[in-house]
Amino acid sequence: MKILVVGGGGREHALAWKLAQSERVTMVYVAPGNGGTARDARMCNVALSAPQELADFVRSEHIDFTVVGPEAPLAAGIVNLFRAQDLKIFGPTKEAAQLESSKDFAKAFMVRHNIPTAEYQTFTDAAAAHAYLNEKGAPIVIKADGLAAGKGVVVAQTLDEAHQAVDMMLSDNKLGSAGCRVVIEEFLAGEEASFIVMVDGKHVLALATSQDHKRLRDQDEGPNTGGMGAYSPAPIITPSLHARVMREIINPTVQGMARDGIPYSGFLYAGLMIDDKGNPKTLEFNCRMGDPETQPIMARLKTDLAHVFEQALHGALDAVELEWDRRTALGVVLAAAGYPEDPRKGDVIRGIPADTAECTTFHAGTVLQDGQLQTSGGRVLCVVGLGDSVKMAQKHVYDTVEKIHFDGMQYRRDIGWRGMKHPAA
Ligand code: AMP
Ligand code: GLY
Repeated sequence: MKILVVGGGGREHALAWKLAQSERVTMVYVAPGNGGTARDARMCNVALSAPQELADFVRSEHIDFTVVGPEAPLAAGIVNLFRAQDLKIFGPTKEAAQLESSKDFAKAFMVRHNIPTAEYQTFTDAAAAHAYLNEKGAPIVIKADGLAAGKGVVVAQTLDEAHQAVDMMLSDNKLGSAGCRVVIEEFLAGEEASFIVMVDGKHVLALATSQDHKRLRDQDEGPNTGGMGAYSPAPIITPSLHARVMREIINPTVQGMARDGIPYSGFLYAGLMIDDKGNPKTLEFNCRMGDPETQPIMARLKTDLAHVFEQALHGALDAVELEWDRRTALGVVLAAAGYPEDPRKGDVIRGIPADTAECTTFHAGTVLQDGQLQTSGGRVLCVVGLGDSVKMAQKHVYDTVEKIHFDGMQYRRDIGWRGMKHPAA
């Protein structure tokens, strides 16, 4: 079996790595891939990105099915294009991907279907937005409606910051068309968790839970990033909370999309905020897997992932039961100098040890240049370790991290800290 994975980050390396472990898979093509997928004999990088070029490639190479990693090709309609040409692809259509590509769509959808989320209003007019801010006060959250590569959300602690965010998006147009409509919503306090499921249009299959670390520096300080590390499972999601999230958020979302005439298939990622009483609310939907959450989740998955995708593409996810390594998997991101504002490229990477049963290094912003591995993006590597506790997993990871070097390498030393304070951990 041949499979195409679209994307080139750590998430896609982890998906390709898991798929390549399947005995029936002969080759995983990754478009465009990275230095890690380039070095793996079971994978082949493909320097294509236009959806029609990818569809032509799939046909000429007799690829069995395609899995899409990032949101941009989904929002641009790659699934619609492949399906129209009878090519199998796992992901939501452009219409269904609006759950991520338009915050206003997602909020209106949640209100319509009674899915718990922060109170909000949507604005295109700056004066009206400023007046709403003054009425509500701070803290408050301002979100660009469209995709803004992680720069579209401002959690404002003061009204000053909130007004500036509105000006930045609505008056100064700093985020372009993504920011010409903004959602202003109530600030929610609590602990975040990532709840990711697979959907085949009708059935839902929950993946293991996880928790991301968005800030650059230890103790959740410094600027927001795409994610500096993640671990799975997230002990805050107890079995009863899991059942509640399925009942109050995930199932109504999948049923609501079907009822609205936009059946959902693909990965569905609900970013949750759990308040101090254990009540979950939806912060956001993503129409894809999380990065770096995918890396520890894949490290724990024991089931043949190619088989799971086949079942999903046949609308038979209800027949799948996933098996997970009961240990904790913990991933630490090694980021480039200057990340997140202005990551430096071209630093030589040395010392990545061979993967072991307890530790795997996934690549993201790396490129193989004349046999030499160099940085080529903000998040460079994600080292994932497995351990009987969060602490043991941490030890495996940080022992490996210490062997790796590139100039300007930045990473957090406290990934998993929230997990350690939960009794279940
Ligand atoms: P989003 O892209 O909507 O997930 O927002 C990015 C990050 O902003 C989230 O992971 C949260 O840390 C934070 N955030 C988003 N919405 C809220 C909210 N209503 N209250 C508090 N924090 C939020
Ligand atoms: N790690 C957060 C995300 O993938 O959106």
